[in-house]
Amino acid sequence: MTSTIEPATSRAATTAPSGALRRPDGLIRNLDVAGLVDAEGGLLDRAIFTDEQLYRQELRRVFAPSWLFLAHTHQFQKPGDFFTTYMGEDPVIVTMNKDREIKAFLNSCRHRGARVCRADSGRTKNFTCTYHGWAYDLQGGLVSVPNQDGYPESFRREDWGLVEVPHVETYKGLIFGTWNPESVSLRESLGDMAWYMDAMLDHDDEGTEVIGGVHKWVLDGNWKLAAEQFATDWYHVNMSHASALQVMSPTGKKPKDEIVHRTGRQYVDPNGHGAGFPVHPKNRFDAPTVHEHVDYDALRERLGDARVDGPLTNGHATVFPNFSYLPVNGSIRIWHPKGPNQIEVWAWTIVDRSWPDEVKEAQRRYNLRTFGPSGIFEQDDGENWSECQSIAHGFITNGVALNYQMGIDSEREDGRFPGVTSELYSDAAGRAFYARWRTLMNTPAWHEEDPS
Ligand code: FES
Ligand SMILES: [Fe+2]
Repeated sequence: MTSTIEPATSRAATTAPSGALRRPDGLIRNLDVAGLVDAEGGLLDRAIFTDEQLYRQELRRVFAPSWLFLAHTHQFQKPGDFFTTYMGEDPVIVTMNKDREIKAFLNSCRHRGARVCRADSGRTKNFTCTYHGWAYDLQGGLVSVPNQDGYPESFRREDWGLVEVPHVETYKGLIFGTWNPESVSLRESLGDMAWYMDAMLDHDDEGTEVIGGVHKWVLDGNWKLAAEQFATDWYHVNMSHASALQVMSPTGKKPKDEIVHRTGRQYVDPNGHGAGFPVHPKNRFDAPTVHEHVDYDALRERLGDARVDGPLTNGHATVFPNFSYLPVNGSIRIWHPKGPNQIEVWAWTIVDRSWPDEVKEAQRRYNLRTFGPSGIFEQDDGENWSECQSIAHGFITNGVALNYQMGIDSEREDGRFPGVTSELYSDAAGRAFYARWRTLMNTPAWHEEDPS
């Protein structure tokens, strides 16, 4: 049985990434994106998926200030456990220190900039750069410099520690970090989205864990195509996944009307998060072993009927900007941006800690069969994003607007679900996703403030 103690999260003493020189004015130029996103009218300009300058601006103004998913607390059992990942394109080490706090540091040596940790994960006492041997402890402090007597008197090791991510916080096992020293708390940024996330994270007091490692694969396509689909797009399911639905149908025949004409709701978050789910689906697509094990009465008691009949039973979701999950499949994933045209997908299988091993294993296999890198649903989705991206650089093509008008003006408060919701088949959460993106892209981030 693994520990159920959630590691403490940390607020770093430093308030901003340190070590930057004063850059000359004009080195960085920002573009006004108001004309590229008509979130109210449901129109998008394809330049937001292809333009290199906009992409660089996203890294500065969307990724740097946002709460970004880092890892699951289950990956950190003992001091020195670490996991390397990215925040936007910035490499970071996530690690547990001696006080069992989760810390995150820029994975770049302060000497010449090499990564100080090149392993995916493991347990260590310190991080030693393989270029010249500078070594850092679990607090990010520089503890060893070979030939230090060659440096001037003014050189002090304490000035050259790893750059720390100023805020690292968890929500029910999920660890997020932000570079923004002035950020609102993670919980505040999630708002009502937390209620929907609990349909996956809060089945009982023991919480969740991740099993089977991290699957990583590269797709051609802009990261927003994947993130927005998981926020807003049930619409594609019946067409894109028709063959998968047929294979998984209990009768092996083409999907029946009750699948095609499902009804449900789509949560539309003012911070750009989104989730969609059928309500009272007649056909289930969860793993039978899991379904047989789950005590639905206990879940109704804990989470309420609306959540069990809706987001717990099926659905898709994105936490803005690039963390997505599928509650029934047990898939949590991050869409790492790799330039405007490529995504590196990192995906975990999440299960309830309290499940017996055979139930966890059934969920792992089910997740891989459906949404692993070669999963029967996953392949359909990746193919679509790559298809959209592959032609979007054409000069005429790039200037032809895209339609996000489904469900326009359908957003309302539904007595059953918190916040504003729309229909199951709707672009409402997509419009909210791009409205949030537009706001961040047009707002100077903390690092643009004049330090004088
Ligand atoms: S780059 Fe790390 S020690 Fe030189
Ligand atoms: Fe899909």
